[in-house]
Amino acid sequence: MRTIVAAFHVLSFPVANPRALLSGDYMPDMLDAIREVVSLNRQETPRSLRIEAAGRDSPVLRRLATQLAAGAGLREDADCGDCVVRVRPTPGSSGWDVLVRLSTRPLSTRSWRVQGHPAAANATVAAAMARLSHSDPEQRVANLMCGSGTLLIERIMLTRARAATGVDLDPKAINAAEQNVAAAKLSGQVRLLNAGVEDDAWLADGPYDVLLADPPWGDKAGRHDESEDLHLTLLRRAHDGAAPEARLVVLTHEIKVMERCMVATADLWRPVSQTKVFHKGHHPRIYVLDRTPSRR
Ligand SMILES: C[S@@+](CC[C@H](N)C(=O)[O-])C[C@H]1O[C@@H](n2cnc3c(N)ncnc32)[C@H](O)[C@@H]1O
Repeated sequence: MRTIVAAFHVLSFPVANPRALLSGDYMPDMLDAIREVVSLNRQETPRSLRIEAAGRDSPVLRRLATQLAAGAGLREDADCGDCVVRVRPTPGSSGWDVLVRLSTRPLSTRSWRVQGHPAAANATVAAAMARLSHSDPEQRVANLMCGSGTLLIERIMLTRARAATGVDLDPKAINAAEQNVAAAKLSGQVRLLNAGVEDDAWLADGPYDVLLADPPWGDKAGRHDESEDLHLTLLRRAHDGAAPEARLVVLTHEIKVMERCMVATADLWRPVSQTKVFHKGHHPRIYVLDRTPSRR
């Protein structure tokens, strides 16, 4: 479940609109589902409830939230409620669904994350990137521009590696990565370097079979006008550290920049796939590239 953001209990009701959910006919089923979630989460019991739906501030959905919270003995908290109830039209049918999130916090929340980073990758996306890298315990793995270490930690949690190196030029990011790696109980397995990818220090543990990166997007980290140079540097330096059959997996929101850089480095990397993902309000893509075979 490492790539799943959240799991929900889905209840489907044969009603024409959400107002009908307020009738006594459906309330017991919804309350049973909420109570089940409360009992499933004894270590981190939900204390409050919120509705996530288009029009959640409408009088009908406000009443539904109030009635569900009161019935389940929870506080209603429209912004931060930790028992999450979604209301949506039933896909492909005429009724309405009520979905109750099974966990107090989303599954993307990781216990190893003890230190944040302003531009940290979502751990579920990082886990998907690790899977796309075809992870194998014999691989040497590098996480370039590693920030707080999300991509590297999720990769090693999927399968061990022969070597795992993270490099970032920001000492605060490396400090955060060290703390997260320690919380994940991976300290002996990972080498973290405070350096730019332009520096050769990280090449020492290579050549790498897998290289992972989410360069700054010019949003929370970096500047948009530096993005092209940075993406080009990333692709070229990744190639410098790559084993002959290496795979590079990059997450970026700079789609046009990345595509121009892939054209400019077509002699180094062969595009394999790109996958659009939802990431903290953006729609970045995961690019998978394989090292171009060297010409004799
Ligand atoms: C989007 S953040 C990475 C976030 C990280 N995946 C995480 O989950 O915390 C991009 C990182 O690239 C680093 N960076 C930017 N230019 C770099 C360079 N030339 N060499 C190494 N790191 C660089 C920044 O310091 C920043 O931490």
